Amino acid sequence: MNKATYVHKIFSSIARQYDFLNSLLSLRFDRSWRRSTARASGAAPESKVLDVCTGTGELALAYANEMGPNASVIGADFCFEMLAVGKQKVERQKRPDVFIPIEADTLALPFAENTFDVVSVGFGIRNVADLEGGIREMARVAVRGGCIAILEFTQPNDRLFRGFYYFYFTKVLPFIGNLVSKNRDDAYGYLPKSVMDFPDCEELASVMCSCGLEDVRYYRKTLGIVAIHVGRKKLEVAE
Ligand SMILES: C[S@@+](CC[C@H](N)C(=O)[O-])C[C@H]1O[C@@H](n2cnc3c(N)ncnc32)[C@H](O)[C@@H]1O
Repeated sequence: MNKATYVHKIFSSIARQYDFLNSLLSLRFDRSWRRSTARASGAAPESKVLDVCTGTGELALAYANEMGPNASVIGADFCFEMLAVGKQKVERQKRPDVFIPIEADTLALPFAENTFDVVSVGFGIRNVADLEGGIREMARVAVRGGCIAILEFTQPNDRLFRGFYYFYFTKVLPFIGNLVSKNRDDAYGYLPKSVMDFPDCEELASVMCSCGLEDVRYYRKTLGIVAIHVGRKKLEVAE
């Protein structure tokens, strides 16, 4: 099974438990990470924001909360089941207009060039089969000077904390995650493996630069468990 098919399969099957397990397994830190990402992107109330690999829309909703009462954020994902959970969530909260779900592959977004002020992704780009292709596509649909924001797990650099964290991340988390979600495809074992295979903060920053972004910075959060990278689409295209 190729990566995209496997990723699609696991998220289709864990969609209903995804939000609950996210909060539980991150000890609710996920909320502040998403809020910080929205803030780091500089999204303003009138900004046009696209959140790719949006899943159940948690990062899209963090943007909407930061942007104010009239905000509406488009969330794109190739997994219908994840989007459906997000849609039901905003309907239950009686604010259906705040999240506009679109079924789409991050590698082929159905939007014109230079459309969005901010294009973001949370815990998603690691899952896209072609990392550079995903970032290039995000940059394509951003306006010139627009922000690309990436929230992703990374590897803590404190040696002492690393030992404790790896035990939790590679043993405890997959056990609880697979048990609660009743997943038979090791969805929560895939999570630590995919993080270990993902570029570190410096490498990701240089991939972003090679994809046409400038002014790339990153911020580590919560002892380096996650990092927020932000960059701007170049104003001028080199001939
Ligand atoms: C870990 S979830 C992240 C969801 C959400 N962004 C969050 O912050 O919780 C990863 C999501 O990426 C989506 N995904 C992975 N590869 C994708 C692709 N090529 N195109 C669109 N969505 C993709 C999956 O369907 C899944 O919903």
